[in-house]
Amino acid sequence: MRLMVHFARSYPWQTLMMLVALMAAGIFEGVGLTALLPLLQIAVDTNTAAGLTSGSRSGETMLNVLAFMGVQPSVESLLVIIMTGVLLKSALVLLANKKVGYTVAHVATDLRLTLLRSLLNARWEYFLNQRVGSLANAAASEVMRASNAYLFGATAAAFFIQAIVYSLVALTINWQATCAALAAALLVLMMLNWLVRMTNRAGSKQTRLLQSLLARLTDSLHSVKPLKAMGRENLADALLQSDTHKLNKALRKQVFSKAALKGVQEPILTLLVVIGLYLSLVSWKIELPTVMVLTFLLVRVLVQLSKVQRQYQEMQGCESAYWSLQEKICGAEAEKEVSTGTRDLHLETQLRLENIHFSYGEIPILAGLSLDILAGTFTAIVGPSGAGKTTLVDLVTGLLRPQQGKVLLDGVSLEDIDLMTWRRQIGYVPQDIMLLHDSIRTNITLGDDSLTDHDVEDALRAAGVWDFVNALPEGIYNTVGERGTKISGGQRQRIAIARALAHRPRLLILDEATSALDPESERAICRTMHELRGQLTLLSISHRPALVEAADQVYLLEGGRVVEVSSPPNLAEPYGEDPKRGIEVPTP
Ligand SMILES: Nc1ncnc2c1ncn2[C@@H]1O[C@H](COP(=O)(O)OP(=O)(O)O)[C@@H](O)[C@H]1O
Ligand SMILES: [Mg+2]
Repeated sequence: MRLMVHFARSYPWQTLMMLVALMAAGIFEGVGLTALLPLLQIAVDTNTAAGLTSGSRSGETMLNVLAFMGVQPSVESLLVIIMTGVLLKSALVLLANKKVGYTVAHVATDLRLTLLRSLLNARWEYFLNQRVGSLANAAASEVMRASNAYLFGATAAAFFIQAIVYSLVALTINWQATCAALAAALLVLMMLNWLVRMTNRAGSKQTRLLQSLLARLTDSLHSVKPLKAMGRENLADALLQSDTHKLNKALRKQVFSKAALKGVQEPILTLLVVIGLYLSLVSWKIELPTVMVLTFLLVRVLVQLSKVQRQYQEMQGCESAYWSLQEKICGAEAEKEVSTGTRDLHLETQLRLENIHFSYGEIPILAGLSLDILAGTFTAIVGPSGAGKTTLVDLVTGLLRPQQGKVLLDGVSLEDIDLMTWRRQIGYVPQDIMLLHDSIRTNITLGDDSLTDHDVEDALRAAGVWDFVNALPEGIYNTVGERGTKISGGQRQRIAIARALAHRPRLLILDEATSALDPESERAICRTMHELRGQLTLLSISHRPALVEAADQVYLLEGGRVVEVSSPPNLAEPYGEDPKRGIEVPTP
C-alpha cells in the first residue's frame, strides 16, 4: 500500500483523474445495473408494467425516475438504460486506462531520467564504490518493473472501484445476503494472502539477484579477453551460474505463487456462489428474479475482488524494484557534487597546489604537497606507481577535494570557482582510455555540434593519427568497437589525445597517455606538445624520457610530497612570448 501512496503523491493529478474517471464509470454502470431487476420482473411477471413492484430500493428509485420523466417502464426502455450505462462506463474506463498507460510511460521516463541525472551529478568518489552493471540494471529492468508496479496498482484500484459499485447495488437489493457474501469473500482472500506475501519475497529476491548478476556479468564481460586467453571463461561462468540458479528459483516461486493464487481462488469462490445460491433459494426462499440479479451482481463482486488480489500480488512482485531504485536515486542525490564557487576564471597566470593533504579514508596519499604550474608551460610529474599522481590530477580537475590545503587558479581557490566552467577548459587524457562504442568522429566531438569534420581532422593530425584514420574504410565515421577494442592501444591513446585537443583546452592533462606508443609516435606527440606550449598549459604524468625531456619543469612525487624539482633553464615564457625559445625538441 505504501507504494500506491507514494505513487499517488508523486503523480497526484494523473491518479486523481484516473480515480474520478473510474468512479464516474462505476456510477454509470451502477445506474444501468439498477434497471436489471425491474427488467427481469417485467419479463417474468405476467402482470402489466403498471402493477410492477421493483423488489429493491434502487429499482424503485429507477421506476420513480422513469415515471417522473414520463417514460413507461418497458423491456425496451430498461434495455436502453442498461446499454447506455454500459456504453458510458466503457468510454470512461477507456479514458482511465489511457490515462494509466500514459502515466506508466511517464513513471518509467521520470524514474530513468531522475536516476541518470542523480548519478551523473554525484561526486566522483560515489562512483568509485558503484558497480556499473547494477546501475545499468537499475536503469533498465528495475525501471520497467517499478513502472509496471504502478500499472498493477492502478488496475487493482479500478477493479476495486467496480467491486464497490456492484456491492452497493447488491446491498440495495438484499443487504443481508450481500453482507454475508462480502464477509465470506474477504475471509477467503485473507486466507490466500500468504501467496501474495510469497510473491513479494520472491520479487525482493529477484531484485537483489538481478543486481548482483548484472554487476558480475558486466565485470566479466569487461575482462572477457584475459579470461578467454587464459582459458578461464568457466570461472566467470561458475560465478554467474550460482546467481542464475538462485534467480531461477526465485522466478519459479513467483510463477508458482501466482498460478496457485489463480488456481485456488476460482474453485473457492465458485463454492461460495453455490452455497449462496442454495441458501437463497432453499433456506431464505428469496424470489427467483431477485436471486438472479443478486447472483449476477455478487458473482461480479467476487470476480472483481479476486482480480484485485491478483493485481495486488503482481504489484507486490515488482514493488522491491521501485524501492531499490528510490534507494539508488536518494543515495546518489545525497552524494550530489556541489559547486560552491561561482567565479568564471580562465587559467591566465598560474595553477598552484598549496600544502595539499589528501587521503582515501584512513590511508594518507598526499601530505603537504605544494607545486606551481605556470600558464603556458609544460610540466611533467613523475613518481613511483601508487605515489598519488592520478590523485593529484583528480584534485586539479576538482573531481576530488583536498582535506586540507588549496588548489588555486590564478590565485583564486577552486572552491570559489564554478567547477563546470573550469572543467570545460580542461582536456583530459586518462590512464585507462575507454572509447565510446561509436564512430571516431563522435569519440572526438563528444556530441559537440560546433566541431566540424575539419576540426576533427586537425585534432587527429595534431595527435599524429590522421594517416591511420584516413586509411580506414569509413574514415572518421569508422566505429572503434566496444570500448575501442577494434583499434590498437596506441591508436586509442592518440584518438583520446585528439579528443582532448579538439575541444581547445586551456589546460591539457596527459595521465600516462603515451605509455602504449612506439618511440617515434611519442616523439611526434612531443613535437605537437612543444608547438602547443604557450597556447595552452600542459601537465603530463609520465615516466617516458621523451615527455620528461620535453617538459619545462619536472616534479618528482614521492611519499605524498614533491621531493625533487628539476627546472630546466629553458623555461618557456607565459602566454604571449615566443614558445619556441629554448627547449630541445627530440627529432625522429
Ligand atoms: N578510490 C580509491 N580508494 C582507495 N584508495 C585509492 C583509490 N584510488 C587510488 N587509491 C590508492 O591511492 C594511491 C595513489 O593512487 P594513484 O593516484 O592512482 O597513484 P599513481 O601515482 O600510480 O597514479 C594508491 O596506493 C592507490 O591504491
Ligand atoms: Mg596513475
